[in-house]
Amino acid sequence: MLNDLQKEILQLKEEKNAIILAHNYQTGDIQEIADYMGDSLELCIKASEIEESDIVVFCGVDFMAETAAILNPDKKILIPDTKAECPMAAMLPADEVKKAKMRHPGAAVVLYVNTLAEAKAEADILCTSSNAVKIVESLKEDTILFGPDMNLAAYVSGFTDKEIIHIPEGGHCYVHKMFTGEIFFLREKYPDAEILVHPECNPEIQEMADYVLSTGGMVSHVKESPKDTFIIGTEVDMVTRLRRENPDKTIIPALSEAICETMKLNTLEKIKNSLINEEFIVKVDEEIADKARSAVERMIEVSKR
Ligand code: 13P
Ligand code: SF4
Repeated sequence: MLNDLQKEILQLKEEKNAIILAHNYQTGDIQEIADYMGDSLELCIKASEIEESDIVVFCGVDFMAETAAILNPDKKILIPDTKAECPMAAMLPADEVKKAKMRHPGAAVVLYVNTLAEAKAEADILCTSSNAVKIVESLKEDTILFGPDMNLAAYVSGFTDKEIIHIPEGGHCYVHKMFTGEIFFLREKYPDAEILVHPECNPEIQEMADYVLSTGGMVSHVKESPKDTFIIGTEVDMVTRLRRENPDKTIIPALSEAICETMKLNTLEKIKNSLINEEFIVKVDEEIADKARSAVERMIEVSKR
């Protein structure tokens, strides 16, 4: 049952011919009014297919909304709170990518979608947590500059013979770094449960898990698995979505404190404001957007193969 604020937002959305895209880490009340939810790749693909709507309210963090703006230069892409930034994306400035390219001429540049537009413009192709291995393997080059997440880089290295050179030193997600020994204890407590973790978790956590998946991969896995108990090693609102969609299954967060603070800056009040005032518009410099777009589109094309 929707509350009054949620109903108001749905009404405004209709009046403005707007659509709400929401990442899997958004709170339950936002999940309930989103037109589409997904992981970074699913949201990128959805953003590349928007035709009818005039406005997109993007409930996620900066790099996700920027990617939607890069793919839709003629649409109004709104973010409810301009402070909703991903600290990991800010760890790899474009200059650092340029310097690494000079140090490694001939290497292909694969950047995680968790980067800002200026850095994306320096990439040959992007990747997300759900397609990183496929993207790297699709390239002819044997040496790959890869960043910013060091744990995703380590994960990819385990599935390819190519040389993965990670940039920048120490690039990480503070939320996924929080996971430590709790998975080990949960394994003992729930021996029949399946443990799913995100590739941004440390390698030793990935090794303890049954599956290493993107958030979209977790949604499909839980839906299709015959098991009925799952331990989830990623941001805690992933559990909210999994519980909503799988009421007969038991979904346990590996760590309730694993909260992405900036994802939570988006609220129903701010979404309402965003629709009423048509703010805050996400703008990407045209030249940067043109360069970044080819790296995003190349990723989408390879992902669909
Ligand atoms: P997904 O693409 O798996 O949703 O991951 C995005 C992200 O920011 C994880 O922290
Ligand atoms: Fe960035 Fe980590 Fe938050 Fe994902 S969970 S948006 S990588 S800070």
